[in-house]
Amino acid sequence: KMNAFVSSLMQKMTVEEKIGQLNLVTPGGTVTGSVVSKDVDSKIRNGQVGSLFGITGPDKIRKAQEIAVNNSRLHIPLIFGLDVIHGHRTIFPIPLGLSCSWNMDMIEKSAEIAASEATADGLSWVYSPMVDIARDPRWGRVSEGSGEDTYLGCQVAKAMVKGYQGSSYSDPTKVMACVKHFALYGAAEAGRDYNTTDMSRIKMYEYYLPPYKAAVDAGVGSVMSSFNEVDGVPATANKWLMTDLLRKQWGFKGFVVTDYTAINEMIDHGLGDLQRVSAEALKAGIDMDMVGEGFLTTLQKSLKEGKVTVAQINAACKRVLEAKYKLGLFDDPYRYCNEQRFNNAILTDANRAAAREFAAKSMVLLKNNNNVLPLQKGKTIALVGPLADNKRNMLGTWSVSGDPEKSITVLQGLKNVAGSDANIIYARGCNISDDTAFAKKVNAFGKEIEIDTRSPQQMIDEAVVAASKADVIVAVLGEAADMTGESSSMSDIGLQKSQKALLDELKRTGKPIVIVLLNGRPMTLTWEDQNADAILDAWFSGTEAGNAIADVLFGNYNPSGKLTMSFPRNVGQIPIYYNHKNTGRPYSGVGAGKFRSNYLDVSNDPLYPFGFGLSYTSFTYSNVTVSSPTIKQGQKITASVTVTNSGKFDGTETVQLYIRDLVGTVTRPVKELKGYQQITLKAGESRKVDFTISVDDLKFYNTDLKRVAEPGDFKVFIGTNSRDVKEADFKLVQ
Ligand code: IFM
Repeated sequence: KMNAFVSSLMQKMTVEEKIGQLNLVTPGGTVTGSVVSKDVDSKIRNGQVGSLFGITGPDKIRKAQEIAVNNSRLHIPLIFGLDVIHGHRTIFPIPLGLSCSWNMDMIEKSAEIAASEATADGLSWVYSPMVDIARDPRWGRVSEGSGEDTYLGCQVAKAMVKGYQGSSYSDPTKVMACVKHFALYGAAEAGRDYNTTDMSRIKMYEYYLPPYKAAVDAGVGSVMSSFNEVDGVPATANKWLMTDLLRKQWGFKGFVVTDYTAINEMIDHGLGDLQRVSAEALKAGIDMDMVGEGFLTTLQKSLKEGKVTVAQINAACKRVLEAKYKLGLFDDPYRYCNEQRFNNAILTDANRAAAREFAAKSMVLLKNNNNVLPLQKGKTIALVGPLADNKRNMLGTWSVSGDPEKSITVLQGLKNVAGSDANIIYARGCNISDDTAFAKKVNAFGKEIEIDTRSPQQMIDEAVVAASKADVIVAVLGEAADMTGESSSMSDIGLQKSQKALLDELKRTGKPIVIVLLNGRPMTLTWEDQNADAILDAWFSGTEAGNAIADVLFGNYNPSGKLTMSFPRNVGQIPIYYNHKNTGRPYSGVGAGKFRSNYLDVSNDPLYPFGFGLSYTSFTYSNVTVSSPTIKQGQKITASVTVTNSGKFDGTETVQLYIRDLVGTVTRPVKELKGYQQITLKAGESRKVDFTISVDDLKFYNTDLKRVAEPGDFKVFIGTNSRDVKEADFKLVQ
C-alpha cells in the first residue's frame, strides 16, 4: 500500500518538487515567536521544503503545516523535528548520566516520556539517540552519549529507539528517532569537536560501529551523518558508509539526513564547490540536507550536466515520502497538533516524578569516607558553591525545550526534602569561573557562567563563615552546562581555579566536605579525591535535579549508579578506557620503571574505573565458578557468583561480567563487558547471580572483518566494577 501510494505521488511530482522534499530548514521561530520566516513560508508554498525543525507548539506547527497542505501544489505535509535529547519539556539527566543507571527499562521509559511530550508539542521526529562511543572526555559531547563501552552502548541505543518509536512510530504519541552521528564522531582527534577521525576497520567494526547498528536493528527510522571524515572521506559524502555498509550490509530502510550544514562544510574539508559536494552527498546515499540548501540550489544543475541521475534523486525522495507515510501524515497532517494533549501531557506531576527517580538512579557515589553520607537529619549544613542555587545550570546541554525556571536547585531540594530537619546556611563561595574571557566563550547561547561582582576573597570568606557554623559542608561544584555538549571541548577538565581556591579554604576549616559535582564529562579530581570526604557525581540531572540530589544526600535513595566512562587522573592519560590492549610490554604497576608501556609520572590506571560506583551499603563477592571448564560451538556455560549485602542499608548492585580472550589471531583487550545484572538486596541478604556465556559472546572481528570465535583459553571476570573483579578460566574447544 505504501509503495503504491508513494509511487503514484512521485509520478505527479516535478524534479524540482522531488528535490524540495530533500530540504530541511529551520526558521528559528521558537525564539523570535514568528511561525516561519517569510522566506521559509514561500519555500513551503513552492514545494521546496520537506521538513522543518526548530519550532514547537501545536498552534505554530499547525500554521506551518497548513501552508504545505493548503498552498503547495501537491499538498505534501511536512515532518517537524527537533533536538529532543534527554527529555523534552521535562528534562531528564544528560544521556551520560542516564547511562550510569545501567537500567535499560528506565532509559527506555525516559525516551517514551520524551516522545509523549514531544508529540504533544507538535513534533514527530527527534534527533536522538546519540550513540557515538567516546574515550576522550575533553570532547564536550561525551555528555550526550553513553560512554566508552560498546556492549552497553548497544543496549542503550536499542532502549532509546524502542522508547521513542514504540512498536511503530505511526502511533501519534511516538516519534521517529534519528540515530547519530554516523559515524565515528566520538573519535575526534584530541577530543576537539568536528576534528578528523582516523581508525582501522577492525577498531571501527569492533568498538565504534555496533551501537549504530543496534539502533538500525531496533528499527530506527532515520540516521544523521556526522561532520567528521571516515577513512579520508567526510561521512556525508562517504558512499562506503552510507550505502555499502548502512544499506547493503545492515539493511537500513529509512532515510539519512545530514548534520547541520554538513554538505556545505565539505567545501572546507577540501572536496570541491557547493555543486560538487552536494552531488557527492546525494550519490553517497544522503537523502535530506539540513539547512545548507546545497541540494535545493545545485542538484538540478548537476542533473542537467549528468553529474547526478534522476534515479538518485528519486531514491532519496522516495525514502522521505515513505517516512511521512509511516508517520501517518498523509492520513492526517495535523495528528501531532492536539491542543488537549499539549495542555495535559507536558511537565505533568508523573513526568516530574519520573525525572526525580531517573536522576537519583543516574548519580554515582565516587567517594564516601567514614560514612559521611547519608547526611544525618538535625545537623547544620553549610551549602556552598556556584552551582548550589543556580537554575540555569541544572538542565545540562541540549535541553532546548526545557525551562530552567521550572528546575529545582540543590538549595530548594535540600529544603524540600529535609524540611525542618536540617539547618541550611547557604553561601555562593565563588564563581563557576573568574576568567571573563573564558566565560564569554561559554556564554555564546546564554549566561551559564554568571560572574558575581564581589571579590573572590569576599565570597570565600562568606563560605568559610558558613562552614565554621556547620557540622558538614556540602559544596556544589563542577561545570557550567555550556562548558559541555557541542563545540565545548576542553583541554583542562579539572575544576576551575575559582572553585579550587574555595575548596582549599574550606579544607582548612577541618569540617567534613561533601562535594556534589554537576558535570557533563569525566573530570580530573585527584586533589578532590584526596581531600574531600565524599564525592557524589550528580551530572546535570534535569528538571528535578535538586530534589533528587537531596534524596540521595539524605539517604532516601541509596546511590546505585556506575560510571560508563573512566575518570582519568590527569589529562595526559587520555584517551583512557578499560578495554585497552595488553601490548607487548604490559603495564606492571606504578614504579615499574622504564621499558614497559608506562608513564614515568603517573599510573596507567584511571582515578575511577569504568563500572565504578559506591553505595551506602557494601557488597561482597564470592569466588567465581563456571559450570564447565570447556565450551563448544552451540553450547553455553554458566558463570556464577554469590553477592552479599554486607552493610547496613538495603541497596542495588550492578554485577558486571567481563571476558578476556587470551590468545587470538588479532590482539584482544584485557577485558570486555559481556553482561551485567542489577540486583536489589536487603541488608544482610545474599543472592547467587548466574550469567550464561555463549560462543557468540566470544566472537570478534578478524583481519577479514569476519566475526569469529577462536578456540583457546579465556578468562571470565565478575565484579562490582571493571577493576575489582574475581576470575575463573575456561576453554573454547572445537
Ligand atoms: O542534532 C544536532 C546535531 O547533534 C548537531 N548539529 C545540529 C543538529 C540539529 O540541531
